[in-house]
Amino acid sequence: MIRPICRMGNPVLREIAKEISQEELKSESFRQLLIDLKDSMDHYGGIGIAAPQIGVSLKVAIIELEGPNRYGENSELPLTVFVNPEIEILTDENQGFWEGCLSVPGLRGFVERPSKIRVRFLNEKGEKQEILAQGFLATVVQHELDHLFGTLYVDRIKDPKLLSFQDEYEKFLQEKG
Ligand code: NI
Repeated sequence: MIRPICRMGNPVLREIAKEISQEELKSESFRQLLIDLKDSMDHYGGIGIAAPQIGVSLKVAIIELEGPNRYGENSELPLTVFVNPEIEILTDENQGFWEGCLSVPGLRGFVERPSKIRVRFLNEKGEKQEILAQGFLATVVQHELDHLFGTLYVDRIKDPKLLSFQDEYEKFLQEKG
């Protein structure tokens, strides 16, 4: 079911989401939550979505990234469910991308994040998983998982001048990204 998106200002986006137990993972309500996340992500045209964005303060996010993306980078990820994820940063090097968010509609902002990470998490069956991500995918994963810890991309914009409305971004800034 397509659910309404909670937007910046809604306190649920600022909570640290609750870890999901193995028991909850097997529940019908969790199965339905995954369906709602996927339906909502597809409907609103996201490449990822986290449970707090549909008002559910649980540590689960999904990402589906088909490459090559608008940055010409080939970073693909088939539909992946991240339950109780933990990120390990693998480099001192940062990379910057213009980010957008379903919870901050109509805007884009330039955010620098570590360019290489490892993520440990459980999949939808409760099995332990580990992935390495770099480039645009590393940014997407960090953006989505930030949602589980009460952080929005706007919090990470170093230069507030690099926050823009989407249409002005397309007109003036896109090439510089
Ligand atoms: Ni977001």
